[in-house]
Amino acid sequence: MTVRAVVKGVGHYLPSRVVENAEFEATLDTNDEWIRSRSGIERRHFASEGETTSTMATAAANAALKMAGLSADDIDAVIVATSTADLTFPSAATMVQAQLGMKGGFAFDIQAVCAGFVFALSNANALILSGQAKRVMVIGSETFSKIMDWTDRSTCVLFGDGAGAVLLEAQAGAGGTDDRGILSTDLNSDGTHRELLYVDGGVSTGTSGYLRMQGNQVFRHAVEKLSATANTAMDRAGVDSTDVDWIVPHQANIRIIQGTAKKLGLPMDKVVVTVQDHGNTSAASIPLALSVGVARGQIKQGDLLVTEAIGGGLAWGAVVLRW
Ligand code: ACO
Repeated sequence: MTVRAVVKGVGHYLPSRVVENAEFEATLDTNDEWIRSRSGIERRHFASEGETTSTMATAAANAALKMAGLSADDIDAVIVATSTADLTFPSAATMVQAQLGMKGGFAFDIQAVCAGFVFALSNANALILSGQAKRVMVIGSETFSKIMDWTDRSTCVLFGDGAGAVLLEAQAGAGGTDDRGILSTDLNSDGTHRELLYVDGGVSTGTSGYLRMQGNQVFRHAVEKLSATANTAMDRAGVDSTDVDWIVPHQANIRIIQGTAKKLGLPMDKVVVTVQDHGNTSAASIPLALSVGVARGQIKQGDLLVTEAIGGGLAWGAVVLRW
C-alpha cells in the first residue's frame, strides 16, 4: 500500500475592496493599457483595515473545511505559506490555529515568497507520507499591499491580497499514476539571485520595508526555470505533458504563464488563469487559482494537475497531483 496526500477540500478568501487598473492613473504615470498588455492584470483585491494575512487564511481554511465536511479538530497540522505574516512572530499559522479553534496539533509558516505554496504542499506531503500527520491544512495567504511602495509604478500595480487553502488527507493508494493525491514534488532555490527580488526591511532595519524587483530580470529566469521544474516533477511522477489536464501556475504575469505553457507543449485552454482578477498574490496565487478553478467547473476529481511557481530567493518548484 502506498500512502498519498489527497485533496479533501479547497477554499479561498478575497477582500471585498477591488481596485481596477484605472485607479492608479490618478497617482502614477501609468495606464490600464500598459498594465494589461505587460502583465495581463486588470484588477486586484486589497485588504481593508482588520483584514490580515491570518484572518484571510482562516476564512479560506474554513471554506476548505466546509467543502470537506470536517471540523478544525479533525486537522493535525496547519501550514501557512506567506511572506507577509501579521507579526514577525508568532507565525501566522499559530494565529490561524487559534482562530479556527483547534485544541491540538501543530502549526508553522513557510517562507519561500511566491513559491511558498509549492514548498508548503511538498512539506505537507512529507508529513503525511512519514506518518507525522493525517490531515494537513495548507494555506497560502498574503497582504502584499502592506509592502508596496505606492510611488514605484514598476511594482505596486502588479500585486494583490488574498488567501487560498487546501486540506490534504492521508489515503491509501495503489502506488500508480492513477492514484488521487500528490504524485511528485520538485523544489529549488538559488540565493545568489537575492538582488532581483527582495524587501528592503526586516529585523535588521527595524522597518517592515518595501518590495523591490528587477522585473525584467526575474522574467528572464521565470519561463526557463518553471518549465524545467515542471518537467522534473512530471518525470518523477511518471507522467508527461500529454497526461496533464490542467496547469495551475503561479499567477504573476500572463506572458510568463503563456511562455511556460508553450515550452511545456500545452495549449492555454489547459491552463487555469486568474491573474486578470487577482494580480500577483504571491504564495496565495496557486491555492486561489485551484479554488477558483474548481468553482468555475474547470478542475474535476481525477484530473491530473501540475502547479509551478517562482519567486524571491530565487526559489522555485512544482507539484504534480491528481485532484
Ligand atoms: N506603467 C507604465 N510604464 C511602466 C510601468 C507602469 N506601471 N512599470 C514600468 N514601466 C516602464 C519602465 O519604466 C520601462 O520604461 P523605460 O523603458 O523607459 O525604462 C518600461 O516600462 C519597460 O519596463 P520593463 O521592466 O522592461 O517591462 P517588462 O516588459 O519586463 O514588464 C513586468 C515589467 C510586468 C514587471 C515584468 O517584467 C514581470 O512581470 N516580471 C516578473 C514578475 C514576477 O514574476 N515576479 C516573480 C514573482 S513575485 C514574488 O516572488 C514576490
